[in-house]
Amino acid sequence: MSNSPLRWLWLLILVGQPMTTEASPTTSPTPDPGAVIKRLAIGSCVDQNRPQHIWPAIAAAEPQLFLLLGDNIYADTLDMAKMQADYETLAAVPEFAAFRQQVPILATWDDHDYGWNDAGVEYAQKEASKALMLDFFDVPAADELRRRPGVYQAKIFGPPGQRVQIILLDGRWFRSAPLKDPSPYRRYRPNLDATNTMLGETQWQWLRAQLEQPAELRLIASGVQVLGYAAGFEGWKNFPLEQERLFTVIREARAAGVVFLSGDAHFTQIKRGDGGVGYPLYEFTSSGLTHGNPVGAARPSPLALQRPYGGINFGVLNLRWQDDPSLTLQARDVDGNIVFEHTIRLADLQPPTEEIK
Ligand SMILES: [Fe+2]
Repeated sequence: MSNSPLRWLWLLILVGQPMTTEASPTTSPTPDPGAVIKRLAIGSCVDQNRPQHIWPAIAAAEPQLFLLLGDNIYADTLDMAKMQADYETLAAVPEFAAFRQQVPILATWDDHDYGWNDAGVEYAQKEASKALMLDFFDVPAADELRRRPGVYQAKIFGPPGQRVQIILLDGRWFRSAPLKDPSPYRRYRPNLDATNTMLGETQWQWLRAQLEQPAELRLIASGVQVLGYAAGFEGWKNFPLEQERLFTVIREARAAGVVFLSGDAHFTQIKRGDGGVGYPLYEFTSSGLTHGNPVGAARPSPLALQRPYGGINFGVLNLRWQDDPSLTLQARDVDGNIVFEHTIRLADLQPPTEEIK
């Protein structure tokens, strides 16, 4: 069969064999729920087709866990073959492939990896998109995350006295359509229709139950920004009643230690706001890992503690448990240099000891 088509078929099978039979070493290590968390890293917005020099800098910070806060690929499609190919493109990036073997990753999604720009409840391929996302992040087939609608999840790490609760919200699966702004300069304006939602009732009930679990620090991750209002862009403030509900749930659960994490914005900033929960609410936004937005970073942001940084960035959260326990938020650039940082005492994230009747 030296020159027959069969010979070529045989050669193809031989050449293809190592690729299809070798186990692909892409799986992330599993986070240890008993570990005392001392350092986490966060980031968002990974364009799979852009250079990804930042992963070695994140690994060099030696985080015990990395939280990927959405727009983990830019799929922007209803074509699931295209979305799968985009995940494969990311998986093949050498820097990312090396990183995911070193550092456990927990992820939620935002619009571009969920479906397309600003997508919400209406996105028709959500089930298929979710399956691709959970496969990519090695979520086991038996995990209950596979059976619930959406990708929200929560985990608690560490022993009593040093517990870090990580709550990853899904702000896409149930999210009602935002209200279009007639202004040519803004996309959206606040939607005060009480029937509209960010999280959906099932996720709201789940969140309330999570906040009643004991923990010293609670990192609540949202794809889009929680506090403040960047006029015309996406954020919880497009649904002010839902933003208020989030604060109310935290207050009613008397949940201590809440800090918000978010992505999406293409700059990094630390904000401090008042949600009426009895202690200041901080938000650490970290975006993006492959492309920033210096113009967006320059927009006025009254709640920001520093001038936001619009270059490529990631975030580090350092926890100090001894003496006076504290959390230091560090915005870092593509090389891992600290751009700005802010330290919060956990003692300052406590609800009032007695309700004022
Ligand atoms: Fe986004």
